[in-house]
Amino acid sequence: MNKIICPNCGMENLINDENCKQCNSNLLLNNKYHLTEIMGENISTTYKGIDKEQKFVVLKELSFRGLDKWKSEELFKREISVLSKLNHSQIPDFLDSFYIGKGRNLRLYLVMENIEGENLKQKLEKSRFDTTKVLKIMKEIASILKYLHSFTPPIIHRDIKPSNIIESNTGKLTLIDFGSVNTVIQKNGGETMAGTIGYMAPEQILGISNKQSDYYSLGVTGIVLLTGKEPEEMIEGIKLNWKKHIKLEVELELFFDYLLKDDFKLRISSAQEIIDIIDKLLEDKNDNELLEYKNDKSSESLKASLKKGKRKKTKLIIKVIMVILIIALALFIVIETDFTDTIKILLKIFAFLISLVVILYFLLKGMANDSKYKS
Ligand SMILES: Nc1ncnc2c1ncn2[C@@H]1O[C@H](COP(=O)(O)OP(=O)(O)O)[C@@H](O)[C@H]1O
Ligand SMILES: [Mg+2]
Repeated sequence: MNKIICPNCGMENLINDENCKQCNSNLLLNNKYHLTEIMGENISTTYKGIDKEQKFVVLKELSFRGLDKWKSEELFKREISVLSKLNHSQIPDFLDSFYIGKGRNLRLYLVMENIEGENLKQKLEKSRFDTTKVLKIMKEIASILKYLHSFTPPIIHRDIKPSNIIESNTGKLTLIDFGSVNTVIQKNGGETMAGTIGYMAPEQILGISNKQSDYYSLGVTGIVLLTGKEPEEMIEGIKLNWKKHIKLEVELELFFDYLLKDDFKLRISSAQEIIDIIDKLLEDKNDNELLEYKNDKSSESLKASLKKGKRKKTKLIIKVIMVILIIALALFIVIETDFTDTIKILLKIFAFLISLVVILYFLLKGMANDSKYKS
């Protein structure tokens, strides 16, 4: 880091300069921060910065020059107010906020913790994600959503997408960009529309967002991470036709169908449910029993199938116990009963054959399922 960006004109200056060589503005923002790098430019500009203690921070700047001032200021203030009341290890800490300048030069800044790492959009440009990784990412984001949605009224993020998720070198995920965040208070005539087209649920496009809208965006995020394609490449008409771009295992396909239901009332209803289903999907990735699952495309069937996985394990244990009991009983009859020698021999052969058939049955069944899973 050897350059400082002028907060007023954007000119690059040297590290030791006090005032901008182009516009002569003070380079030290609010007596504390230097801007060192532009990280994103949208309605607001995101900078990496450094504070007086030489610690990296992130500054988001809203300039009032030529903007739809009121809407942007409302969203930006919302981000500041929400971030300042959140306390979660996977959400950046709020550090500071202040106004600088006057009139046309008025700017509002939000300062937050710098999260080391790359956002998932940047990561996706380098390599694809496998299903296990995507499910783990979705589970972690669902647990952050569970925290946000636990507020009264619930805090709706409204802009879940790969570029708003940062992964550190150690694999820790952080959810950023609370600029579209909203609490579900329906004022007269709906609310300000915010979010990213393609990731937005149908009701959010119409101006209503709720918890389920975040689950929809999480579903789109999962599909984007799996396919490596942005939603606009998959949208046909107004529908996200993702099945044309990736073939998933049936239960995984049902899970995404459940997240991406057009009608939010039919969509998955809580972050905990997402977590539970993902746990089961990850667990069952190596569980052959689930492959007997019926190809029925309803979310009820997904739930039933996931429950069935558990029941089948119990059933298997009962079957094994029964086999042991049958063998023990057969041996007991043979040893204890006073039959003639011929009957005794016949019974022994009979008990032996029964045991052999039962054991072979289970062995062959296991092998058949194994090969089915591999193919
Ligand atoms: N706290 C942070 N720590 C590290 N990088 C961040 C942080 N906040 C934002 N960024 C980076 O800056 C980019 C833009 O920031 P974001 O808050 O998403 O603004 P925008 O409204 O432009 O999408 C992000 O995609 C991310 O790469
Ligand atoms: Mg963003």
